[in-house]
Amino acid sequence: MARTRVLIDTDPGVDDAVALLLALASPELDVVGVVAVNGNVSLDKTALNARRIVALAGRDDVPVCAGCARPLSEPVIEDSLVHGHDGLGDLEWNDPAVALDARDGVDFIAEMIDQGPLTIVAIGPLTNLAVLLQRYPGIEGRVEHVVIMGGASLQGNVTPAAEFNIWADPEAARVVFDANWRITLMPLDLTHQAFLDDDDLAYFSDLGTEVGRRTAAMLEPYAQFHERWYGTRDVIMHDAMAVYELLDPHAITKQGVRLAVEVGGVHSRGATFIDRRREHAQSEVRVGVRVDNDRFRSLLRQRLATYAD
Ligand code: RIB
Ligand code: CA
Repeated sequence: MARTRVLIDTDPGVDDAVALLLALASPELDVVGVVAVNGNVSLDKTALNARRIVALAGRDDVPVCAGCARPLSEPVIEDSLVHGHDGLGDLEWNDPAVALDARDGVDFIAEMIDQGPLTIVAIGPLTNLAVLLQRYPGIEGRVEHVVIMGGASLQGNVTPAAEFNIWADPEAARVVFDANWRITLMPLDLTHQAFLDDDDLAYFSDLGTEVGRRTAAMLEPYAQFHERWYGTRDVIMHDAMAVYELLDPHAITKQGVRLAVEVGGVHSRGATFIDRRREHAQSEVRVGVRVDNDRFRSLLRQRLATYAD
């Protein structure tokens, strides 16, 4: 099987953690590195959380670097409590066995691009990718594919108009959307179709492994947030959709679009405009439209069950 070389840019984040565990357990992917970005919580926490999850997956072969601590756009957002104070559901953790790689995260992405075909999975604010494009002009032409969790066709989550990853750094999103590279975007209207329920949490817990126990434990406070916010404990798997796209490219129905983002605006900061008109049907910029949740959950269960203690 030809494996896809992947770099994951992330702001862990409970759903980021599930996406990382899925990617690191999938033989279709060669994860060459993880780069943290300021987002759900501050960079020091997202970098520590990335180390925690890579160590939990037993993958000390995968470098973890820190990228940008501040967005291009002001103001710098405060830590979101959606994922707990530490960003991973506030569990007890030992110091992770995976050290922080000293390389600058953005330079590390460029280094991985230089070493061969690369797919970037971006599941946090797009600051690192924007700085990559600014620091290395033209580098987008050497990137195979960028799969992004972000944006919304209609209803936002952090505001009525905007999805969090775009809202947190709309300037960066504009730089990334305006660059000439192959983008597949997984917006909220797609990701809300993919969720885990209490049966899934029980399944993970019953695996009897550290990965199973910690996945269930991280998801519990996230399920409580969902109940408060959406009135149901169904835990939306936003970030895992960007990984799932690479595991089964036929699983998520997609269409060609043109993307734009509102950078200013009193009510519309971070709003994404996803132009689905037929003139964009053949574009290499695409958006996820439909996904079968039972098919996704079955694969996620199977992959997380492969982790042994
Ligand atoms: O809006 C969902 C996105 O915001 C996900 O990436 C989640 O981790 C949060 O960062
Ligand atoms: Ca995220």
